[in-house]
Amino acid sequence: MLPNWFNVWNKENPTNVYGPAVLVGVLGGAIFLAIMIVVWGQPAATNSLQTGPRGTGMSMAEFTRDLGTPDPDIAELSENEPYIPDGSEALAKDIYSNVQVLGDVTEDNFNRVMAAMTEWVAPDQGCAYCHGDGDIETYGEDTLYTKVVARRMIEMTQNINESWEGHVSANKQVGVTCMTCHRGQNVPSEVWFKIDPVNEATAGWPAVQNRATPLSQYTSLPSNALEAYLLNYERIGVHDLESRVANEPGDPLIQHAERTYSLMNYFANSLGRNCVLCHNTRAFYDTEQVTPQWSTASQGIAMVQEINNDYLVPLTDVLPADRLGPMHGDAPKAACKTCHKGYQQPLQGTNVIKDWPELATTGVPVYE
Ligand code: HEC
Ligand code: HEC
Ligand code: HEC
Ligand code: HEC
Repeated sequence: MLPNWFNVWNKENPTNVYGPAVLVGVLGGAIFLAIMIVVWGQPAATNSLQTGPRGTGMSMAEFTRDLGTPDPDIAELSENEPYIPDGSEALAKDIYSNVQVLGDVTEDNFNRVMAAMTEWVAPDQGCAYCHGDGDIETYGEDTLYTKVVARRMIEMTQNINESWEGHVSANKQVGVTCMTCHRGQNVPSEVWFKIDPVNEATAGWPAVQNRATPLSQYTSLPSNALEAYLLNYERIGVHDLESRVANEPGDPLIQHAERTYSLMNYFANSLGRNCVLCHNTRAFYDTEQVTPQWSTASQGIAMVQEINNDYLVPLTDVLPADRLGPMHGDAPKAACKTCHKGYQQPLQGTNVIKDWPELATTGVPVYE
Protein backbone atom coordinates (compact mmCIF):
# COMPACT_ATOMS: atom_id res chain seq x y z
CA MET A 1 0.00 0.00 0.00
CA LEU A 2 2.78 2.43 0.93
CA PRO A 3 5.41 3.15 -1.74
CA ASN A 4 8.27 0.70 -1.73
CA TRP A 5 11.00 3.26 -1.04
CA PHE A 6 9.22 4.13 2.23
CA ASN A 7 9.00 0.55 3.40
CA VAL A 8 12.71 0.09 2.69
CA TRP A 9 13.64 3.32 4.40
CA ASN A 10 11.42 2.48 7.31
CA LYS A 11 12.98 -0.90 7.78
CA GLU A 12 16.49 0.58 7.75
CA ASN A 13 15.65 3.40 10.16
CA PRO A 14 13.57 1.85 12.98
CA THR A 15 12.10 4.68 15.07
CA ASN A 16 10.20 4.44 18.35
CA VAL A 17 7.12 6.60 17.72
CA TYR A 18 5.57 5.98 21.14
CA GLY A 19 7.57 8.65 22.98
CA PRO A 20 6.67 11.51 20.62
CA ALA A 21 3.08 10.25 20.35
CA VAL A 22 2.63 10.35 24.11
CA LEU A 23 4.19 13.84 24.18
CA VAL A 24 1.86 15.12 21.47
CA GLY A 25 -1.09 13.52 23.25
CA VAL A 26 -0.25 15.10 26.61
CA LEU A 27 0.37 18.52 25.08
CA GLY A 28 -2.79 18.30 23.02
CA GLY A 29 -4.79 17.25 26.09
CA ALA A 30 -3.40 20.15 28.11
CA ILE A 31 -4.22 22.64 25.36
CA PHE A 32 -7.72 21.17 25.05
CA LEU A 33 -8.23 21.51 28.83
CA ALA A 34 -6.95 25.08 28.76
CA ILE A 35 -9.37 25.94 25.95
CA MET A 36 -12.22 24.35 27.90
CA ILE A 37 -11.39 26.36 31.03
CA VAL A 38 -11.20 29.57 29.02
CA VAL A 39 -14.46 28.84 27.22
CA TRP A 40 -16.51 27.38 30.10
CA GLY A 41 -14.82 28.89 33.14
CA GLN A 42 -12.84 27.42 35.98
CA PRO A 43 -14.94 24.79 37.76
CA ALA A 44 -13.18 25.27 41.11
CA ALA A 45 -13.32 29.09 41.08
CA THR A 46 -14.00 30.60 44.48
CA ASN A 47 -15.52 33.78 45.71
CA SER A 48 -14.91 35.12 49.17
CA LEU A 49 -17.26 36.80 51.57
CA GLN A 50 -15.42 39.34 53.67
CA THR A 51 -16.98 39.85 57.08
CA GLY A 52 -14.43 42.01 58.90
CA PRO A 53 -11.53 44.43 58.37
CA ARG A 54 -8.77 43.52 55.92
CA GLY A 55 -5.84 41.63 57.32
CA THR A 56 -7.81 39.92 60.06
CA GLY A 57 -8.58 36.83 58.00
CA MET A 58 -12.29 37.47 58.41
CA SER A 59 -13.43 36.03 55.11
CA MET A 60 -14.95 32.80 53.91
CA ALA A 61 -14.25 31.16 50.58
CA GLU A 62 -17.00 29.45 48.62
CA PHE A 63 -17.11 27.75 45.26
CA THR A 64 -18.72 30.10 42.74
CA ARG A 65 -20.77 27.22 41.36
CA ASP A 66 -22.37 26.66 44.80
CA LEU A 67 -23.26 30.34 45.08
CA GLY A 68 -25.33 30.06 41.94
CA THR A 69 -27.37 27.11 43.29
CA PRO A 70 -30.53 28.37 44.96
CA ASP A 71 -32.18 26.63 47.94
CA PRO A 72 -34.63 24.26 46.14
CA ASP A 73 -37.36 25.10 48.69
CA ILE A 74 -37.58 28.64 47.28
CA ALA A 75 -39.33 27.19 44.22
CA GLU A 76 -42.02 25.78 46.55
CA LEU A 77 -42.96 29.22 47.88
CA SER A 78 -46.13 30.24 46.09
CA GLU A 79 -47.18 33.84 45.57
CA ASN A 80 -50.61 34.45 47.04
CA GLU A 81 -51.57 38.07 47.40
CA PRO A 82 -54.08 39.06 50.09
CA TYR A 83 -57.51 40.47 49.32
CA ILE A 84 -57.36 44.09 50.48
CA PRO A 85 -60.46 44.57 52.66
CA ASP A 86 -62.59 47.71 52.23
CA GLY A 87 -64.08 47.44 55.69
CA SER A 88 -67.48 46.09 54.65
CA GLU A 89 -66.54 42.41 54.76
CA ALA A 90 -67.68 40.06 57.50
CA LEU A 91 -64.89 38.89 59.81
CA ALA A 92 -64.03 35.28 60.63
CA LYS A 93 -65.13 35.73 64.25
CA ASP A 94 -68.63 36.71 63.07
CA ILE A 95 -69.02 33.88 60.58
CA TYR A 96 -67.42 30.93 62.34
CA SER A 97 -68.06 29.39 65.74
CA ASN A 98 -64.61 28.90 67.23
CA VAL A 99 -62.00 31.27 65.86
CA GLN A 100 -59.79 32.41 68.72
CA VAL A 101 -56.72 33.86 67.02
CA LEU A 102 -57.59 34.86 63.46
CA GLY A 103 -60.91 36.46 64.40
CA ASP A 104 -60.19 39.86 62.83
CA VAL A 105 -59.37 38.39 59.43
CA THR A 106 -61.94 38.71 56.62
CA GLU A 107 -63.57 35.54 55.31
CA ASP A 108 -61.65 35.53 52.01
CA ASN A 109 -58.32 36.06 53.70
CA PHE A 110 -59.14 33.50 56.41
CA ASN A 111 -59.72 30.85 53.77
CA ARG A 112 -56.57 31.96 51.97
CA VAL A 113 -54.57 31.41 55.15
CA MET A 114 -56.20 27.98 55.75
CA ALA A 115 -55.30 26.90 52.22
CA ALA A 116 -51.71 28.08 52.65
CA MET A 117 -51.31 26.39 56.04
CA THR A 118 -52.47 23.17 54.42
CA GLU A 119 -49.85 23.53 51.70
CA TRP A 120 -47.09 24.37 54.20
CA VAL A 121 -47.81 21.76 56.87
CA ALA A 122 -50.07 19.00 55.52
CA PRO A 123 -50.06 19.01 51.70
CA ASP A 124 -50.70 15.25 51.54
CA GLN A 125 -53.46 15.06 54.16
CA GLY A 126 -55.26 18.35 53.34
CA CYS A 127 -57.79 20.10 55.60
CA ALA A 128 -58.54 16.76 57.25
CA TYR A 129 -55.16 16.78 59.01
CA CYS A 130 -56.45 19.39 61.45
CA HIS A 131 -60.22 19.20 60.92
CA GLY A 132 -60.93 15.49 60.49
CA ASP A 133 -63.07 13.86 57.83
CA GLY A 134 -66.38 15.51 58.81
CA ASP A 135 -68.04 18.22 56.73
CA ILE A 136 -67.31 21.93 57.08
CA GLU A 137 -69.90 22.37 59.88
CA THR A 138 -67.62 20.34 62.17
CA TYR A 139 -64.54 22.50 61.54
CA GLY A 140 -65.19 24.51 64.71
CA GLU A 141 -64.48 21.48 66.89
CA ASP A 142 -61.10 21.16 68.59
CA THR A 143 -61.04 17.35 68.64
CA LEU A 144 -57.72 16.74 66.88
CA TYR A 145 -54.46 17.64 68.62
CA THR A 146 -53.10 18.92 65.32
CA LYS A 147 -55.62 21.78 65.31
CA VAL A 148 -54.84 22.72 68.91
CA VAL A 149 -51.10 22.72 68.11
CA ALA A 150 -51.68 24.67 64.88
CA ARG A 151 -53.57 27.44 66.74
CA ARG A 152 -50.60 27.85 69.10
CA MET A 153 -48.27 27.78 66.08
CA ILE A 154 -50.17 30.70 64.53
CA GLU A 155 -49.69 32.68 67.74
CA MET A 156 -46.01 31.73 67.85
CA THR A 157 -45.45 32.79 64.22
CA GLN A 158 -47.19 36.13 64.82
CA ASN A 159 -45.08 36.71 67.91
CA ILE A 160 -41.81 35.86 66.13
CA ASN A 161 -42.58 38.34 63.34
CA GLU A 162 -43.72 41.05 65.73
CA SER A 163 -41.45 40.80 68.78
CA TRP A 164 -38.34 39.46 67.09
CA GLU A 165 -38.43 41.59 63.96
CA GLY A 166 -34.86 42.67 64.77
CA HIS A 167 -33.79 39.09 64.09
CA VAL A 168 -36.12 37.74 61.39
CA SER A 169 -36.05 40.99 59.42
CA ALA A 170 -32.58 42.07 60.54
CA ASN A 171 -31.34 43.26 57.14
CA LYS A 172 -34.58 43.69 55.21
CA GLN A 173 -38.10 42.32 55.47
CA VAL A 174 -37.83 38.51 55.45
CA GLY A 175 -39.99 37.26 58.32
CA VAL A 176 -41.19 33.70 58.91
CA THR A 177 -44.26 31.67 58.01
CA CYS A 178 -45.09 28.04 58.77
CA MET A 179 -43.07 27.21 55.64
CA THR A 180 -39.82 28.54 57.15
CA CYS A 181 -39.76 25.61 59.57
CA HIS A 182 -42.17 23.02 58.12
CA ARG A 183 -41.30 22.99 54.38
CA GLY A 184 -44.33 20.85 53.58
CA GLN A 185 -43.76 18.36 56.44
CA ASN A 186 -46.02 17.71 59.44
CA VAL A 187 -43.08 17.95 61.83
CA PRO A 188 -40.22 20.21 60.71
CA SER A 189 -36.76 18.80 60.07
CA GLU A 190 -33.95 19.72 62.48
CA VAL A 191 -35.99 19.53 65.67
CA TRP A 192 -34.20 18.20 68.75
CA PHE A 193 -34.82 16.25 71.97
CA LYS A 194 -32.92 16.00 75.24
CA ILE A 195 -30.44 13.14 75.18
CA ASP A 196 -28.55 13.61 78.42
CA PRO A 197 -28.22 10.61 80.74
CA VAL A 198 -31.41 9.19 82.18
CA ASN A 199 -30.22 7.50 85.39
CA GLU A 200 -27.48 7.72 88.00
CA ALA A 201 -25.48 4.83 86.67
CA THR A 202 -24.88 6.69 83.44
CA ALA A 203 -24.78 10.21 84.90
CA GLY A 204 -21.90 12.67 84.84
CA TRP A 205 -19.94 14.53 82.24
CA PRO A 206 -18.43 11.54 80.43
CA ALA A 207 -21.95 10.46 79.49
CA VAL A 208 -22.77 13.65 77.59
CA GLN A 209 -19.41 13.73 75.90
CA ASN A 210 -17.33 11.63 73.51
CA ARG A 211 -20.41 10.34 71.75
CA ALA A 212 -20.82 11.17 68.09
CA THR A 213 -24.41 12.42 68.07
CA PRO A 214 -26.13 14.96 65.84
CA LEU A 215 -26.36 17.17 68.93
CA SER A 216 -22.58 17.18 69.36
CA GLN A 217 -22.23 17.90 65.64
CA TYR A 218 -20.58 14.45 65.44
CA THR A 219 -17.63 15.66 67.52
CA SER A 220 -16.35 14.58 70.94
CA LEU A 221 -17.88 17.75 72.42
CA PRO A 222 -20.84 17.60 74.82
CA SER A 223 -24.29 16.71 73.42
CA ASN A 224 -26.27 18.90 75.82
CA ALA A 225 -25.30 22.37 74.56
CA LEU A 226 -28.73 23.14 73.06
CA GLU A 227 -30.42 22.03 76.25
CA ALA A 228 -28.15 24.14 78.47
CA TYR A 229 -28.19 27.31 76.39
CA LEU A 230 -31.29 27.32 74.19
CA LEU A 231 -33.76 25.75 76.64
CA ASN A 232 -32.28 26.50 80.05
CA TYR A 233 -30.66 29.86 80.41
CA GLU A 234 -27.08 28.90 81.27
CA ARG A 235 -24.25 31.34 80.77
CA ILE A 236 -22.46 30.91 77.45
CA GLY A 237 -19.39 33.12 78.06
CA VAL A 238 -16.39 31.24 79.45
CA HIS A 239 -13.43 33.48 78.67
CA ASP A 240 -11.16 34.94 81.33
CA LEU A 241 -8.29 37.32 80.61
CA GLU A 242 -6.31 36.21 83.68
CA SER A 243 -3.64 33.67 82.80
CA ARG A 244 -4.31 31.75 85.98
CA VAL A 245 -7.87 31.56 87.18
CA ALA A 246 -8.50 31.26 90.89
CA ASN A 247 -11.34 28.83 90.21
CA GLU A 248 -13.86 30.45 92.50
CA PRO A 249 -17.08 28.54 93.05
CA GLY A 250 -19.38 29.24 90.11
CA ASP A 251 -16.53 29.92 87.66
CA PRO A 252 -16.92 28.08 84.38
CA LEU A 253 -15.11 24.75 84.14
CA ILE A 254 -13.20 23.44 81.16
CA GLN A 255 -16.26 21.33 80.36
CA HIS A 256 -18.30 24.51 80.05
CA ALA A 257 -15.81 25.81 77.50
CA GLU A 258 -16.23 22.59 75.56
CA ARG A 259 -19.98 22.91 75.72
CA THR A 260 -19.75 26.50 74.44
CA TYR A 261 -17.71 25.24 71.48
CA SER A 262 -20.33 22.57 70.87
CA LEU A 263 -22.99 25.30 70.64
CA MET A 264 -20.78 27.42 68.39
CA ASN A 265 -20.22 24.47 66.06
CA TYR A 266 -23.98 24.09 65.93
CA PHE A 267 -24.36 27.81 65.03
CA ALA A 268 -21.80 27.50 62.26
CA ASN A 269 -23.41 24.35 60.82
CA SER A 270 -26.92 25.80 61.08
CA LEU A 271 -25.92 28.80 58.99
CA GLY A 272 -23.47 27.03 56.67
CA ARG A 273 -20.79 29.54 57.69
CA ASN A 274 -17.78 29.47 59.95
CA CYS A 275 -16.81 31.35 63.09
CA VAL A 276 -15.73 34.56 61.29
CA LEU A 277 -19.30 35.29 60.25
CA CYS A 278 -19.69 36.57 63.82
CA HIS A 279 -16.29 36.73 65.54
CA ASN A 280 -12.83 38.09 65.01
CA THR A 281 -11.29 34.76 65.94
CA ARG A 282 -8.23 36.28 67.62
CA ALA A 283 -10.58 37.38 70.43
CA PHE A 284 -13.77 35.34 70.65
CA TYR A 285 -14.66 37.04 73.93
CA ASP A 286 -14.35 40.64 72.72
CA THR A 287 -17.72 42.18 71.88
CA GLU A 288 -15.91 45.23 70.45
CA GLN A 289 -14.51 43.16 67.60
CA VAL A 290 -17.60 41.24 66.53
CA THR A 291 -19.64 41.63 63.33
CA PRO A 292 -23.28 42.84 63.07
CA GLN A 293 -24.24 39.18 62.66
CA TRP A 294 -23.04 38.53 66.22
CA SER A 295 -25.74 40.88 67.54
CA THR A 296 -28.39 39.26 65.32
CA ALA A 297 -27.25 35.87 66.66
CA SER A 298 -27.43 37.15 70.24
CA GLN A 299 -31.07 38.08 69.70
CA GLY A 300 -31.56 34.69 68.04
CA ILE A 301 -30.47 32.98 71.27
CA ALA A 302 -33.11 34.83 73.29
CA MET A 303 -35.73 34.23 70.60
CA VAL A 304 -35.10 30.47 70.54
CA GLN A 305 -35.26 30.30 74.37
CA GLU A 306 -38.69 31.94 74.15
CA ILE A 307 -39.93 29.72 71.30
CA ASN A 308 -38.97 26.63 73.29
CA ASN A 309 -40.13 27.68 76.74
CA ASP A 310 -43.28 29.63 75.93
CA TYR A 311 -44.60 27.72 72.93
CA LEU A 312 -43.14 24.27 72.28
CA VAL A 313 -42.51 22.76 75.72
CA PRO A 314 -46.04 23.66 76.98
CA LEU A 315 -47.43 21.53 74.10
CA THR A 316 -46.00 18.36 75.70
CA ASP A 317 -49.38 17.29 77.11
CA VAL A 318 -51.23 17.98 73.87
CA LEU A 319 -48.94 15.86 71.67
CA PRO A 320 -49.43 12.09 71.26
CA ALA A 321 -46.74 9.84 72.75
CA ASP A 322 -45.20 8.98 69.37
CA ARG A 323 -44.24 12.63 68.86
CA LEU A 324 -42.28 12.83 72.14
CA GLY A 325 -38.54 12.35 72.70
CA PRO A 326 -37.14 8.82 72.98
CA MET A 327 -35.31 9.29 76.30
CA HIS A 328 -37.13 11.95 78.29
CA GLY A 329 -40.58 12.02 76.69
CA ASP A 330 -40.09 15.73 75.99
CA ALA A 331 -41.73 17.76 73.23
CA PRO A 332 -39.76 18.37 70.02
CA LYS A 333 -37.86 21.65 70.28
CA ALA A 334 -36.61 24.20 67.78
CA ALA A 335 -33.23 25.92 67.39
CA CYS A 336 -31.32 27.86 64.76
CA LYS A 337 -31.27 25.09 62.16
CA THR A 338 -35.05 24.52 62.34
CA CYS A 339 -35.39 27.82 60.43
CA HIS A 340 -31.98 28.31 58.82
CA LYS A 341 -31.54 24.76 57.39
CA GLY A 342 -27.86 25.38 56.63
CA TYR A 343 -28.27 28.83 55.03
CA GLN A 344 -27.02 32.16 56.38
CA GLN A 345 -30.58 33.44 55.96
CA PRO A 346 -33.53 31.02 55.82
CA LEU A 347 -34.70 30.53 52.21
CA GLN A 348 -31.71 32.71 51.30
CA GLY A 349 -33.36 35.87 52.55
CA THR A 350 -36.53 35.57 50.43
CA ASN A 351 -39.26 37.84 51.81
CA VAL A 352 -41.81 35.22 52.89
CA ILE A 353 -44.05 37.47 54.98
CA LYS A 354 -45.05 40.07 52.38
CA ASP A 355 -48.20 38.21 51.33
CA TRP A 356 -49.17 37.22 54.88
CA PRO A 357 -50.01 40.27 57.05
CA GLU A 358 -52.27 37.89 59.01
CA LEU A 359 -49.18 36.12 60.37
CA ALA A 360 -47.06 39.24 60.83
CA THR A 361 -48.76 40.70 63.88
CA THR A 362 -50.62 39.59 66.99
CA GLY A 363 -53.09 42.45 66.40
CA VAL A 364 -55.44 43.26 63.52
CA PRO A 365 -53.60 42.57 60.23
CA VAL A 366 -52.49 45.65 58.32
CA TYR A 367 -52.87 45.45 54.52
CA GLU A 368 -50.82 47.78 52.34
C1 HEC B 1 -52.45 22.83 60.13
C2 HEC B 1 -53.80 22.77 60.65
C3 HEC B 1 -54.96 23.24 59.79
C4 HEC B 1 -55.23 22.89 58.49
C5 HEC B 1 -54.45 21.96 57.58
C6 HEC B 1 -56.48 23.56 58.16
N1 HEC B 1 -56.93 24.27 59.23
FE1 HEC B 1 -58.72 25.29 59.32
N2 HEC B 1 -58.31 25.80 61.25
C7 HEC B 1 -57.13 25.54 61.91
C8 HEC B 1 -57.13 26.25 63.17
C9 HEC B 1 -55.99 26.24 64.21
C10 HEC B 1 -58.34 26.96 63.24
C11 HEC B 1 -58.77 27.91 64.36
C12 HEC B 1 -58.15 29.28 64.13
C13 HEC B 1 -58.33 30.24 65.27
O1 HEC B 1 -58.71 29.82 66.37
O2 HEC B 1 -58.06 31.45 65.07
C14 HEC B 1 -59.08 26.63 62.02
C15 HEC B 1 -60.36 27.05 61.75
C16 HEC B 1 -61.04 26.83 60.56
C17 HEC B 1 -62.39 27.23 60.28
C18 HEC B 1 -63.36 27.91 61.25
C19 HEC B 1 -64.24 26.84 61.88
C20 HEC B 1 -65.17 27.40 62.96
O3 HEC B 1 -66.38 27.21 62.84
O4 HEC B 1 -64.68 27.98 63.92
C21 HEC B 1 -62.67 26.87 58.99
C22 HEC B 1 -63.97 27.09 58.23
C23 HEC B 1 -61.48 26.24 58.47
N3 HEC B 1 -60.53 26.21 59.45
C24 HEC B 1 -61.36 25.76 57.18
C25 HEC B 1 -60.25 25.07 56.71
C26 HEC B 1 -60.15 24.54 55.36
C27 HEC B 1 -61.19 24.69 54.29
C28 HEC B 1 -58.94 23.91 55.28
C29 HEC B 1 -58.30 23.22 54.08
C30 HEC B 1 -58.15 24.07 52.90
C31 HEC B 1 -58.31 24.02 56.59
N4 HEC B 1 -59.12 24.75 57.42
C32 HEC B 1 -57.08 23.47 56.90
C33 HEC B 1 -56.12 24.69 61.49
C34 HEC B 1 -56.04 24.12 60.24
C1 HEC C 1 -40.08 28.14 64.50
C2 HEC C 1 -40.45 27.01 63.69
C3 HEC C 1 -41.94 26.73 63.44
C4 HEC C 1 -42.85 27.54 62.81
C5 HEC C 1 -42.62 28.95 62.26
C6 HEC C 1 -44.08 26.80 62.76
N1 HEC C 1 -43.92 25.58 63.35
FE1 HEC C 1 -45.34 24.13 63.53
N2 HEC C 1 -44.01 22.94 64.53
C7 HEC C 1 -42.72 23.31 64.87
C8 HEC C 1 -42.15 22.29 65.72
C9 HEC C 1 -40.74 22.33 66.33
C10 HEC C 1 -43.13 21.28 65.85
C11 HEC C 1 -43.03 19.99 66.63
C12 HEC C 1 -43.34 20.30 68.07
C13 HEC C 1 -44.75 20.26 68.45
O1 HEC C 1 -45.55 19.58 67.79
O2 HEC C 1 -45.09 20.90 69.48
C14 HEC C 1 -44.29 21.73 65.10
C15 HEC C 1 -45.48 21.01 65.01
C16 HEC C 1 -46.60 21.44 64.32
C17 HEC C 1 -47.83 20.66 64.18
C18 HEC C 1 -48.06 19.26 64.76
C19 HEC C 1 -47.75 18.27 63.68
C20 HEC C 1 -47.76 16.83 64.10
O3 HEC C 1 -48.05 16.01 63.20
O4 HEC C 1 -47.47 16.49 65.24
C21 HEC C 1 -48.69 21.42 63.44
C22 HEC C 1 -50.09 21.03 63.01
C23 HEC C 1 -48.03 22.67 63.13
N3 HEC C 1 -46.76 22.64 63.68
C24 HEC C 1 -48.57 23.70 62.40
C25 HEC C 1 -47.92 24.91 62.14
C26 HEC C 1 -48.56 26.03 61.47
C27 HEC C 1 -49.96 26.02 60.91
C28 HEC C 1 -47.63 27.02 61.41
C29 HEC C 1 -47.77 28.43 60.83
C30 HEC C 1 -48.88 29.21 61.33
C31 HEC C 1 -46.42 26.54 62.06
N4 HEC C 1 -46.63 25.26 62.49
C32 HEC C 1 -45.26 27.28 62.19
C33 HEC C 1 -42.06 24.44 64.46
C34 HEC C 1 -42.62 25.51 63.78
C1 HEC D 1 -23.94 33.17 64.07
C2 HEC D 1 -22.94 33.85 64.87
C3 HEC D 1 -21.85 33.04 65.53
C4 HEC D 1 -21.05 32.09 64.96
C5 HEC D 1 -21.06 31.57 63.51
C6 HEC D 1 -20.13 31.68 65.98
N1 HEC D 1 -20.37 32.36 67.15
FE1 HEC D 1 -19.35 32.19 68.88
N2 HEC D 1 -20.65 33.47 69.82
C7 HEC D 1 -21.69 34.12 69.19
C8 HEC D 1 -22.42 34.89 70.18
C9 HEC D 1 -23.66 35.74 69.91
C10 HEC D 1 -21.76 34.70 71.42
C11 HEC D 1 -22.12 35.30 72.79
C12 HEC D 1 -23.13 34.42 73.46
C13 HEC D 1 -23.49 34.95 74.83
O1 HEC D 1 -22.59 35.07 75.67
O2 HEC D 1 -24.67 35.21 75.05
C14 HEC D 1 -20.65 33.80 71.15
C15 HEC D 1 -19.74 33.36 72.11
C16 HEC D 1 -18.62 32.59 71.84
C17 HEC D 1 -17.61 32.21 72.82
C18 HEC D 1 -17.60 32.60 74.29
C19 HEC D 1 -16.86 33.89 74.45
C20 HEC D 1 -16.64 34.25 75.92
O3 HEC D 1 -16.89 35.41 76.26
O4 HEC D 1 -16.25 33.37 76.68
C21 HEC D 1 -16.66 31.45 72.16
C22 HEC D 1 -15.42 30.84 72.77
C23 HEC D 1 -17.10 31.33 70.79
N3 HEC D 1 -18.28 32.05 70.63
C24 HEC D 1 -16.42 30.61 69.83
C25 HEC D 1 -16.91 30.38 68.54
C26 HEC D 1 -16.30 29.46 67.60
C27 HEC D 1 -15.07 28.62 67.87
C28 HEC D 1 -17.07 29.49 66.48
C29 HEC D 1 -16.90 28.66 65.18
C30 HEC D 1 -16.97 27.23 65.36
C31 HEC D 1 -18.14 30.44 66.71
N4 HEC D 1 -18.02 30.96 67.97
C32 HEC D 1 -19.13 30.74 65.79
C33 HEC D 1 -22.02 34.05 67.85
C34 HEC D 1 -21.44 33.19 66.93
C1 HEC E 1 -37.83 31.47 63.64
C2 HEC E 1 -36.82 31.24 62.64
C3 HEC E 1 -35.37 31.53 63.04
C4 HEC E 1 -34.67 30.95 64.06
C5 HEC E 1 -35.15 29.92 65.07
C6 HEC E 1 -33.34 31.52 64.00
N1 HEC E 1 -33.25 32.42 62.97
FE1 HEC E 1 -31.60 33.50 62.43
N2 HEC E 1 -32.67 34.44 60.97
C7 HEC E 1 -33.97 34.15 60.63
C8 HEC E 1 -34.35 34.96 59.49
C9 HEC E 1 -35.70 34.94 58.78
C10 HEC E 1 -33.22 35.76 59.16
C11 HEC E 1 -33.05 36.74 57.97
C12 HEC E 1 -33.07 38.18 58.42
C13 HEC E 1 -32.68 39.11 57.30
O1 HEC E 1 -31.82 38.75 56.47
O2 HEC E 1 -33.20 40.25 57.28
C14 HEC E 1 -32.19 35.41 60.12
C15 HEC E 1 -30.92 35.98 60.16
C16 HEC E 1 -29.89 35.58 60.99
C17 HEC E 1 -28.57 36.16 61.00
C18 HEC E 1 -28.10 37.33 60.14
C19 HEC E 1 -27.57 36.86 58.83
C20 HEC E 1 -27.07 38.00 57.98
O3 HEC E 1 -26.77 37.73 56.81
O4 HEC E 1 -27.00 39.14 58.44
C21 HEC E 1 -27.82 35.47 61.92
C22 HEC E 1 -26.36 35.68 62.27
C23 HEC E 1 -28.70 34.47 62.51
N3 HEC E 1 -29.94 34.58 61.92
C24 HEC E 1 -28.30 33.58 63.50
C25 HEC E 1 -29.19 32.73 64.17
C26 HEC E 1 -28.80 31.91 65.29
C27 HEC E 1 -27.40 31.80 65.86
C28 HEC E 1 -29.93 31.25 65.69
C29 HEC E 1 -30.08 30.28 66.85
C30 HEC E 1 -29.68 30.75 68.16
C31 HEC E 1 -31.02 31.66 64.80
N4 HEC E 1 -30.53 32.56 63.90
C32 HEC E 1 -32.33 31.20 64.89
C33 HEC E 1 -34.80 33.21 61.24
C34 HEC E 1 -34.47 32.44 62.35
